[in-house]
Amino acid sequence: MRNLVNILDLSTEEIDELIKTASDILDNPELYTNSCRGKILGTLFFEPSTRTRLSFTSAMMGLGGNVLGFSQAGSSSTAKGETVADTIRMVSAYSDIIVMRHPKEGAPIVASEVATVPVINAGDGGHFHPTQTLTDLLTIKKKKGRFDNLTIGVCGDLKYGRTVHSLISAMSRYPGVKFVLIAPEELRLPDYVKDEYLYSTGCEFVETDNLDTAIPSLDILYMTRIQAERFDSKEEYERLKDSYILTRDKLAIAKEDLSILHPLPRVNEIDVDVDDDPRADYFDQAMYGRYIRMALILMLLKTKGVVDKRVTGAPDHSLVCTNPHCISRNERGIKLLFDEGRCIYCDQAASKI
Ligand code: NCD
Repeated sequence: MRNLVNILDLSTEEIDELIKTASDILDNPELYTNSCRGKILGTLFFEPSTRTRLSFTSAMMGLGGNVLGFSQAGSSSTAKGETVADTIRMVSAYSDIIVMRHPKEGAPIVASEVATVPVINAGDGGHFHPTQTLTDLLTIKKKKGRFDNLTIGVCGDLKYGRTVHSLISAMSRYPGVKFVLIAPEELRLPDYVKDEYLYSTGCEFVETDNLDTAIPSLDILYMTRIQAERFDSKEEYERLKDSYILTRDKLAIAKEDLSILHPLPRVNEIDVDVDDDPRADYFDQAMYGRYIRMALILMLLKTKGVVDKRVTGAPDHSLVCTNPHCISRNERGIKLLFDEGRCIYCDQAASKI
């Protein structure tokens, strides 16, 4: 059984295969309308979602399958104190594949350990969002025709932006990719992402807080929302929320073939005037999400006999994860495991008790 928790669970060859299948579905949707007949997708959204949940639902329907699930933690037994592990055990019995979004980082790892069907991570707190990255990759392939030799500006909330963390881990594998990380000091990319995906791959990157000076060099500009729900301090959110607003004027010095992406929802970081610019690709990007998710469901339902477990070894009770948003600090019964001083659930540093 195969899961998708981190985008690096997929090799670059598998990503190519998914893109090929998604493109074929786009061109010949009628060939796929019975591909998942009799199969059920469980959609467990413990956090709000429009695009991700509805595109997964629409994807499964387009494949002839059925969907069950919930769109708010409050309407599930989580409200009664049920753990993620117990909810997943139940839904494994009611569905053939599960997609879940959870506010706590590392929750999909806990889920994939107890599930008896494939688990897809649709976003875990401020950690990862691999299926948004698949959507981004399909969009980049369609708009730029390649993954290598691209200068990618990522702008906004790089600290809590799970779409950014997954995009960087995926794109840092391709030669000639350079990142321009544009964020205010307080919302810079976390060390665990830099260490694991930029320094370790030798991927070139620069950090700046200035969008205007970064724009001319970019092939792709990936804008993100400053996410109110991830801040512990409302004052800090208020101070940072309008850090960047992309306008038509700012784009005057951008490349003619720049591709402007955004995982959406947008708040006000892209002015609506930009929507008519031919370089604004974010609504196409959202549309592509349905097709790459169809390809992913097909791939994961097809893969048999693979055992994909990552929680192994003896728990270490001398350490604790330093991340207050980690699932290991928020639910009972989770085996405390660390790899080279980092929590295996959320990748953040551990400290001695
Ligand atoms: C993103 C997410 O949920 O992380 N949205 C999405 O899935 N398309 C980005 C966001 O919420 O800002």
